[in-house]
Amino acid sequence: SDQLLPQCWLVVRVDGRGFHKFSERHEFAKPNEPRCIRLMTLAARRVLMEHRSILLAYGQSDEYSFVLHKDTNAFNRRASKLASLIGSLFTSAFVFNWSICFPDRRLLYPPAFDARAVAYPSVRTLRDYLSWRQADCHINNLYNTAFWSLVLRGGLSANQAQERLKGTLAADKNELLFSQFGINYNNEPEVYRKGSLLVRASLLDSQVDAVAEEASVGDNVPDVGEASVEEVSEIAAKVAKAEAESASTLLHIDIIKDKFWTENPRILPLDSQ
Ligand code: GTP
Ligand code: MG
Repeated sequence: SDQLLPQCWLVVRVDGRGFHKFSERHEFAKPNEPRCIRLMTLAARRVLMEHRSILLAYGQSDEYSFVLHKDTNAFNRRASKLASLIGSLFTSAFVFNWSICFPDRRLLYPPAFDARAVAYPSVRTLRDYLSWRQADCHINNLYNTAFWSLVLRGGLSANQAQERLKGTLAADKNELLFSQFGINYNNEPEVYRKGSLLVRASLLDSQVDAVAEEASVGDNVPDVGEASVEEVSEIAAKVAKAEAESASTLLHIDIIKDKFWTENPRILPLDSQ
């Protein structure tokens, strides 16, 4: 069978299929589309509500990683069950909530997300995995911020911008952004630089600065029949806000350094190997 090793932390990562094209067809803002980020987080929240053995989720770009407790026996720890169920629920929640996040933009074709399940034998290796995803977020966002500044504000073609950035280090891109466009990269929104962390609220100890979402909507949306888009948003917002926020807390913070983990030791026990 495809049962994942016992006593290992399990991660299911979903990733949008062909989102380069999807983002073009749906005219996403470059480099970051806040409505898509919100939609991804709504879908992830739905997954956390449904699958109680998930402790936290980390998302950036078109991906979300869900971390399941090492002791979980959910679906007999079968990789195919976990990946297919989480992947399909994420996808359906993404579609289900589309019109709430993009009220004036039609979904042009059905998106898909691939999903894979991987086992990590220790907190250390699990944290390395999460650090890798956040480092990826940082590297891509810095590159994309520089790239789209050169194209949209600097008047360069895509090829010219690519050439300009070839071989540059992080410090060079920071300097370019500052000197040429007056952008201090460190002042860019944390949601773009750090990605999104959803933590089961009951596991948090420290007074973290949870992100106040103006209207966290989409879960348990009632049957709204022929209601207008505005009405749908309003009803859904009321129903979903309390429930969704009680389940998980949204943070845009550093998860590479120890600070967050040591301040919240109940999420990933520090002594377990
Ligand atoms: P596969 O995952 O291999 O199917 O390809 P993909 O096209 O989805 O590429 P990948 O998952 O590696 O990267 C995600 C892509 O989605 C990025 O390269 C961007 O093109 C696009 N994308 C994700 N988020 C945003 C966004 O907020 N704005 C814009 N404009 N594009 C985005
Ligand atoms: Mg993708």
